[in-house]
Amino acid sequence: MRILSGIQASGVLHIGNYFGMMRPAIALQAQGEAFYFIADYHALTTVRDPKALRKNADRVALDFLACGLDPERATLFRQSDVPQVTELAWILSTVAPMGLLERSHSYKDKLARGLAATVGLFNYPVLMAADILIYDSDVVPVGKDQKQHIEITRDLAVKMNEIFGEIFKLPEARIQAATEVVPGIDGQKMSKSYGNNIDIFGDEKETRKRVMSIVTDSTPVDAPKDPATSIIFKLYSLVASEDEIAQMRDQFLKGGAGYGDFKKLLFEKLWEYFAPMRKRREEILSDKSYIDNVLAQGAKRANEVADQIMQRLRLAVGLR
Ligand code: ADP
Ligand code: TRP
Repeated sequence: MRILSGIQASGVLHIGNYFGMMRPAIALQAQGEAFYFIADYHALTTVRDPKALRKNADRVALDFLACGLDPERATLFRQSDVPQVTELAWILSTVAPMGLLERSHSYKDKLARGLAATVGLFNYPVLMAADILIYDSDVVPVGKDQKQHIEITRDLAVKMNEIFGEIFKLPEARIQAATEVVPGIDGQKMSKSYGNNIDIFGDEKETRKRVMSIVTDSTPVDAPKDPATSIIFKLYSLVASEDEIAQMRDQFLKGGAGYGDFKKLLFEKLWEYFAPMRKRREEILSDKSYIDNVLAQGAKRANEVADQIMQRLRLAVGLR
């Protein structure tokens, strides 16, 4: 089984990224051949500062490794180290129906947020399909917001196979029900573009501040509170043990404790949860060439696989 996923180099990683995509991806690395990459071509649709793009890409690699990606088991690489993927994106775009892409939620959301309607933004799902198909991927662990992109990928693979014969495998999205949408501090989906994120490796003061500013309703301290609708409780459930979760649920239902108290508990657990990863991150940082070596090896392996599939495709469509 080949597992593949990517994460954009467009900012600092937050706990929505971690629970929605990174943790499931890391868990899957033991179950097959995993390919994980830093989507720097995709990030170009929003990042226009070369220094920032490079810095973000390095940081994503560092953070992913610190969180448990094991380069002995998984291949980690930069998307742009496999430029063949843009050739595949072009070929896919020649069969991609305009209507299919026009229905893309993420494209429409981005325009609604004020991004300029570039061809790159419109073609984003085609490049993503190329990312997936070029490695004959079986399983793609992602958060729920990426579901439609995987459906588009399957549609394009089916179209290509119908026209040119069996070239591509049909990949499947793997979405964790419990963490498909991690809420941000305002209750919307946590996202760096909404500014409601709690970062995985934020410093202690900033992380505490973010947790303490989680939006709550105005239920008085003494009154019972509803855990099911609480952002604090949802986030706590991601990082605490079964017993601790049950205890917090009881305290919510019983009343007598304020949201401020629950936020403090959440901060403590969150900070504790990521402590081993912070330690690993320091270790990686102390070895200057570690990440470069991992990415160079990853690029080599990814190129081997991509070249095989591109050869098959070029032959099938009539390119030399
Ligand atoms: P952002 O929305 O912050 O820009 P990305 O789009 O770069 O995040 O997402 C990278 C990966 O993390 C994707 O697989 C995405 O589905 C997942 N992800 C991002 N935010 C969340 C969230 N709040 N809950 C669950 N998964 C998420
Ligand atoms: N679009 C994904 C995101 O924003 C990143 C991505 C690019 C990706 N190519 C991919 C994810 C291929 C999975 C597979 O998070």
